[in-house]
Amino acid sequence: MTLLGDLSPEVFLHDYWQKKPLVVRGACPELIGLLEPDDLKELACTEGVEARLIEEHGQTPWQLSHGPFTTKRLNRLPDKSWTLLVQAVDHYLPALQEVLGRFTFLPAWRIDDVMVSLAAPQGSVGPHFDRYDVFLIQGEGTRLWQVGPAVDDSHPRLPHPQLRLLSDMPVEFEATLHPGDLLYLPPGWAHYGIAQDTCLTYSIGFRAPPLLRVLDRLVDVTLATGMDPLYTDVERSRVTHPGRLDDADVARLRRQILALLDDEYRWHTVLGELLSEPKYDDYEPQGVSVDLASLQAWLQSGLHLLRDPASRLLYSDEQGLIRCYVNGELCTSIASEVFKLLADHVSLGAEQLRDLSDTELQGVMLALHHGWYLPPLALE
Ligand code: SIN
Ligand code: CO
Repeated sequence: MTLLGDLSPEVFLHDYWQKKPLVVRGACPELIGLLEPDDLKELACTEGVEARLIEEHGQTPWQLSHGPFTTKRLNRLPDKSWTLLVQAVDHYLPALQEVLGRFTFLPAWRIDDVMVSLAAPQGSVGPHFDRYDVFLIQGEGTRLWQVGPAVDDSHPRLPHPQLRLLSDMPVEFEATLHPGDLLYLPPGWAHYGIAQDTCLTYSIGFRAPPLLRVLDRLVDVTLATGMDPLYTDVERSRVTHPGRLDDADVARLRRQILALLDDEYRWHTVLGELLSEPKYDDYEPQGVSVDLASLQAWLQSGLHLLRDPASRLLYSDEQGLIRCYVNGELCTSIASEVFKLLADHVSLGAEQLRDLSDTELQGVMLALHHGWYLPPLALE
């Protein structure tokens, strides 16, 4: 595994993950040449694809525009100093699943998407920091990265209506990335990447559930249970100041509320549903119906089924009790052993499905029927 260079996933997680940046040379050679600049432009012109354009010297400094763009607009861009960014390219380019397969030392639910940027020489999105971990991999061209320490919202910013750009870029180190090289950045680290020539840069972006969103969902689900317990104080001692809100009462009430929220089953279902929600609300998987004979024939001829990259499958194992979630919903229609296979892999071939009975293969057919998995893809 070259992704982390000489580091094992264990050492990376212990020493770098969420702690400090890492540069790995030649980490991901398979990204080189995977996309051409024109492929990215075409995606940026497609309805439903999330795309942005940043022109450093536009009508205003660091002018931001949103896609979909017209080919004419993109072809009229100057020779320098712009960046076109396309989100969730992994949803459109199945070959990226293989690259994401290099990140299986982290839970799949932590991965947000693969954003790809196309930059003209001197192009940049400006000095900034992100709230999330990101692995930036150079696909084409050379990019100079300035990396500063972790900063926060108190760091001075340029006046800009939409972008949160740093007005001075604190530089701790510089690294020039060539095709295949990787820069890992933990949340908050200032960075400023300047294309030295035409660049394609892949950002494997991670996500972290906002804690208040989890709390909000947990409270909602708790309220919806219909239970309505009252505060109790069986072990009360006498008070001397009846007008005072006692520390003991505050502590007791706090304990009782936290106990109300601390329900193992509810935590699992709330997190299972929340973390398996698809990236885009309007995502509608397109299923195909296949019969058992066709499925078996595909597998026998060495074909692979590929997970729809936009579908999120997740399961929890609460002391042997498996619960399965797909795209934000509890799924009870697929046997848990089959579901685990579907969720742990991004591509399934005869090798993974060899030991499944015909009844279990029905679960795979259901995944195809719902569009969570896609019909065969011949992998060389
Ligand atoms: C880029 O690809 O130009 C921007 C990536 C980033 O800074 O997060
Ligand atoms: Co960034």
